Amino acid sequence: MEFKFNWEGNKDRIDKLTRFMEANKEKKGVLMLVLQEAQELFGYLPKEILELISTNLKIPLSEIYGVATFYSQFSLVPKGEYVIGVCLGTACYVKGGQQILNKLEDILGITVGQTTPDEKFSIDGTRCLGACGLAPVMMINGETYGRLNVDSIEEIINKYR
Ligand code: FES
Repeated sequence: MEFKFNWEGNKDRIDKLTRFMEANKEKKGVLMLVLQEAQELFGYLPKEILELISTNLKIPLSEIYGVATFYSQFSLVPKGEYVIGVCLGTACYVKGGQQILNKLEDILGITVGQTTPDEKFSIDGTRCLGACGLAPVMMINGETYGRLNVDSIEEIINKYR
């Protein structure tokens, strides 16, 4: 799924990133700094911005993708309006967290790490959310849902549609 990048609407952010690259290009580890700044500015790393970074810093695009995909702090797709974090910690796993995740993927037609084409939902797999007593647990934009079972998922998602 390709997300269309809005150059005009992002003009100020692009200017800011360009200035940031200019100011930091002599620094060691500049790529990491620039990717962090870009993720912060755009909320994810659009491929158009990775190309811009590649040209500006004279670093091959393949190397930039290597770094961007290695670190989980970076995302190559925009996050949805609702970010669903499914706990994959041990307690949740034991109580069926994986089945909850599978069901969500079925309902939304995306896999973990992806965003629906209408940019409404994203699914993330997360570490322990600190609510093991309620396992299996998921969180939607900071709201916790516990003691989940596969049959309850659709109803919860429908509240956000
Ligand atoms: S393991 Fe899921 S909340 Fe702790």
